[in-house]
Amino acid sequence: MNRRMITAVFLILLTSSALTRGQNSGSCVTDVILSGYSARMFTSEPVSDQDLDLILKCGIKAPSSRNLQPWKFTVVKDTALTKSTIGNINPGNVLIIVSGPESQEGTIVDFDCALATENMSIAALSLGMGARIYGGPVKNVNSTMRQSLEIPEGYRVVTILRIGHIDKSVDAVSAASARKKFEEVVNFKK
Ligand SMILES: Cc1cc2nc3c(=O)[nH]c(=O)nc-3n(C[C@H](O)[C@H](O)[C@H](O)COP(=O)(O)O)c2cc1C
Repeated sequence: MNRRMITAVFLILLTSSALTRGQNSGSCVTDVILSGYSARMFTSEPVSDQDLDLILKCGIKAPSSRNLQPWKFTVVKDTALTKSTIGNINPGNVLIIVSGPESQEGTIVDFDCALATENMSIAALSLGMGARIYGGPVKNVNSTMRQSLEIPEGYRVVTILRIGHIDKSVDAVSAASARKKFEEVVNFKK
């Protein structure tokens, strides 16, 4: 093979690997997102303080409107409290209750809190754990459980994130909920 041919082969390999990377394979972050699902089946293995700290730091790192970081995170480990918050829950699971200022209900603060929640959810998945966001119990928690959960004064709950270890035998593909088709959601403007 002469020099020109070697260069041509090298360029073909380089281009095809770039195309493949763009289309089919991703980073560890995109892999976690694309293979993730909202867990239902948790085990009772406790979440370590080290993992919990890392997850919370990922929540704190979330972007927010004007960088106001309006959230407060209330971490609940006590099984009696976690059970009365979302019902059927395993010991060892942790709830991270994400709250925003009461005075700004229904504003962009809720959006900020949602981004922090999703950051923590993805962090938990990336550490090999499961996570599930809960909106259903929020109304009840705000009206009856703020004191017992020690939600900071002047704040109301926006979302609740459950994290815990998951049964690794659960098939992630069948546990995942289907998504709408790409073409149904994405429109490339011509
Ligand atoms: C804002 C929000 C609120 C949710 N509330 C609940 C809830 O109250 N109870 C529940 O079991 N799942 C809840 N979920 C989880 C969704 O049902 C789940 O993300 C959705 O069905 C997609 O499933 P997947 O994440 O496994 O793909 C909530 C998710 C979001 C984003």
